Amino acid sequence: MKKILFASQNKSKVSELILLTDTYLEILTLADLSYTKEIPETGETLEENALQKAKTIYNTFHIPCFSDDSGLFIDNLNGEPGVHSAHYSGNRDHGQNNQLVLDKLHGASNRKAHFKTIFCLVLSPDEYHFFEGEVHGQIATESKGNGGFGYDPIFIPEGYSSTFGELNSSVKARFSHRARATQKLIKFLAESFK
Ligand code: IMP
Repeated sequence: MKKILFASQNKSKVSELILLTDTYLEILTLADLSYTKEIPETGETLEENALQKAKTIYNTFHIPCFSDDSGLFIDNLNGEPGVHSAHYSGNRDHGQNNQLVLDKLHGASNRKAHFKTIFCLVLSPDEYHFFEGEVHGQIATESKGNGGFGYDPIFIPEGYSSTFGELNSSVKARFSHRARATQKLIKFLAESFK
């Protein structure tokens, strides 16, 4: 069985991904290798951050590894909060981040937005691949629902009238940005490693 390392400290992402993989692949986590340091994320794009995280971990353990970076991109705010999604309001408080977005879009009719995830897979010092997933929708006029995390209570995906915060998590898991990027990564790994 091939071993691959997921360069993430986020336990829910790790378990989500392990569920999606087949038996040909063993996904190791940073916890399995007792790695607890914070991984630097100083890029100006999702791609730069994902590559930086995957390379940091590859250079430490020298086995194939991948990482992810995500964000919310709002058309009317020139793509903000984008790569700064986690601490848009100045700290990592989801409620404050959501309120800032609602305030900035107060009265706006164009509320189009999308979530995007980039995975970066590093197979050797000079071989790396990117996989992208997006989900498009609208920013709601008020925060609704307690499900999910981050901007879920203010994001209404295309084809729905409820926010990700109101929808069942299994609905989100079917077509979210992360699910779409994960499917591409898993397909690539299946073809490369089988
Ligand atoms: P990460 O790179 O996946 O940790 O995401 C960075 C930030 O983007 C998070 O802290 C959230 O604010 C936002 N974000 C990413 N994915 C989602 C999502 O699925 N729902 C809501 N917010 C998200």
